[in-house]
This record gives sequence, C-alpha cells and structure tokens, in this order.
Amino acid sequence: MPSEPGKTKFQIDLRRHLRQQGICDNLVHLICEIAEASKYVINAVRTGDLGVAGTSNLYGEEQLALDVLSDRIMRKRLIQSGVVCNIASEEMDEIYEVQGDANGLYSVAYDPLDGSSLVDVNLAVGTIVSIYAGCDLLQPGRNQVAALYILYGPRVSLVYTVGDGVHEFTMNHLMEFTLTRENVRMQPEGNIYAPGGLRNKYNDGDEAFIKYLETKGCKLRYSGGFVPDINQVLMKGKGLFMYPALVGSPNGKLRVLFELNPMAFIMEHAGGAATNGTIPILDIKPESLDQRAPIYIGCKADVAKAMEFLNGAEGVSAGNLETKSVKYGSV
Ligand code: AHG
Ligand code: MN
Ligand code: MN
Repeated sequence: MPSEPGKTKFQIDLRRHLRQQGICDNLVHLICEIAEASKYVINAVRTGDLGVAGTSNLYGEEQLALDVLSDRIMRKRLIQSGVVCNIASEEMDEIYEVQGDANGLYSVAYDPLDGSSLVDVNLAVGTIVSIYAGCDLLQPGRNQVAALYILYGPRVSLVYTVGDGVHEFTMNHLMEFTLTRENVRMQPEGNIYAPGGLRNKYNDGDEAFIKYLETKGCKLRYSGGFVPDINQVLMKGKGLFMYPALVGSPNGKLRVLFELNPMAFIMEHAGGAATNGTIPILDIKPESLDQRAPIYIGCKADVAKAMEFLNGAEGVSAGNLETKSVKYGSV
C-alpha cells in the first residue's frame, strides 16, 4: 500500500493507516480506542501494584491486581466507545452485554494482560484483542474482522490486521503509534522454536518434533510470554511457537477466544499457519468462553512438520497441507 504523497510511511499514524484499509469508520474508531486504552495499561504495568487481587478468573486462576486493573481499563474504554455490543475477557466469568442492538457494531474478546506474572521479573507482556462484527463471540476465529496485540516491551508496539496484511506500529515519544513495518510476511520455514509447557509432560510426537527441530539447527527462544514469543516469530518472519497437549492436559493451556484466535488470524494473514494439531485454529468452533486448545503456530512448513509428527502422517508438508482439507486462509 503506497504511503501518502509527501509522507514517509514512518510518519503514518495508526488512524491514518486504518483509514486506508477501506474498513468502516466504526472499526477504525474501535481499534483506535483500544490503542488509547493501552496507554493506561502501560502506566499500570510500569507503576501498578504487583500483588494478587484476591480473586480468580473463569479458569480458576488467581488474578493479579494488574489483571483486574488492565481488564477494567479495557472494558471501560470499550463500553464508552459506543460501537461495541458484547465483550468477553479472559478476566471476566461471562459475556458483558453493552447493548443489544448489534447492527454496525462489534463484539470484542480480549486478554487484557497476557503474561501478567512476568511483570514482577520485568519481562515483556501484552494485550491481545479479537474483534467480530455483530454480537456473536462464539464464532470460528476465521470470522474475525480484526485482530491486534499491543506488546509492552523495551518499546511499545501494536500489530494489527483487518485481513489485508499485518502491520506494526511503534509508540513514539509523544505516545503516538506510528507505522514501522507494513505487510509483515512469514518465510516458509524457520530457525527458532518456542516450546511451552512442562517438557516432562510432552507426548512422544511432540518430543520427536522437538528433536527434529533441534537436529535441523533451530534455536530455542521462549520467554513465557505469548505476546513477545509470537512477536519474535512474526517480526523475524521465521520460527514456530507451540503449546501442545500435555499428559493430564489434553487441551494444553492457551485460550481459544482470547489468545489463539487473534494470534492465528494475524499469523495466517502474514502467510503463516496455526493449528491445534488436527485442524487450523481458525476453524475451531468454540463451544464455551473458557475453551482451550493445543497450538502450533508460525512458518507453514514447520507447522506442517509438527502435524506430521503428531499424526504420523507421512508426506504432510506445506505444499500439500491444503490437500489434507486443512485449508489455510488465502494469504
Ligand atoms: P496469562 O498471563 O494471560 O494467563 O497467559 C500466560 C500464558 C502465555 O502468556 C504463555 O505462553 C503461557 O502462559 C506460558 O505458560 P507456561 O508458564 O506454562 O509455559
Ligand atoms: Mn493470556
Ligand atoms: Mn491474561
């Protein structure tokens, strides 16, 4: 997409870039509101209380004060945006209905602060957001109209897609998000891998897949934060993140609505792939808000190889991934 005459792409701010995507004003407004809310989350992360909130989320996990504060910041901004009908959050037990009339409005599922337990050791964390048109939040992720994340690292960056490429913005000294990478693309095959979960609970297929990756010279890059770990794979254009089914946890750990769908949508639109080991993440029909799934996400060839090891299917490769009725989005 050509940058505007007289402006280098690095001066294009988020709102201007969104307006060039041919999406409706309400969606431009919604994404800009989420970007604005992230500025308050940054402040909370940098100066907020690191203790526990004394409550637990819908997964029964103990909430940190920062989880609750970040969730409140996001929810308030979404409610006040005037373009949202339903909200679901990793930190809320049920769907929050903002207004019943859905036409022209959007529903949002978000993880307000992913990796919150890493803040007290000063590692990077993020906010993950998934947007649907209308009021249904239990749709397959392929129906998203937008997905984005904000990464609170040494720099603060925002990555979004509305289905036409994946674009990165970096916060400048005036706290404006300006374009730093446009149309981020994945290479066919990678050289880093991020293996989540306890290795002594890996199934044989996953263990064999890790051995394959190590044999081919891949480097292990795992921070424990889903957002920075995915961002590294995406911005290098190479690599694979996995959080597999574990012995005792057949669905792994990560949440379909709040983590897997938005990241899979972004990854597919960057030319990568994301699967639960059997079907694309984006084709999972969520049955409940708290649904989890295993995930292998990154370069198409690496994802295909993971499936080969998992399913013992010979010859599954990026090329004929499509023929296994495993359709990856047209990217
Ligand atoms: P959250 O902080 O939202 O609960 O998410 C944490 C997730 C994700 O960020 C990361 O990929 C995963 O937990 C790490 O899990 P392990 O500590 O089991 O590796
Ligand atoms: Mn999370
Ligand atoms: Mn979280």
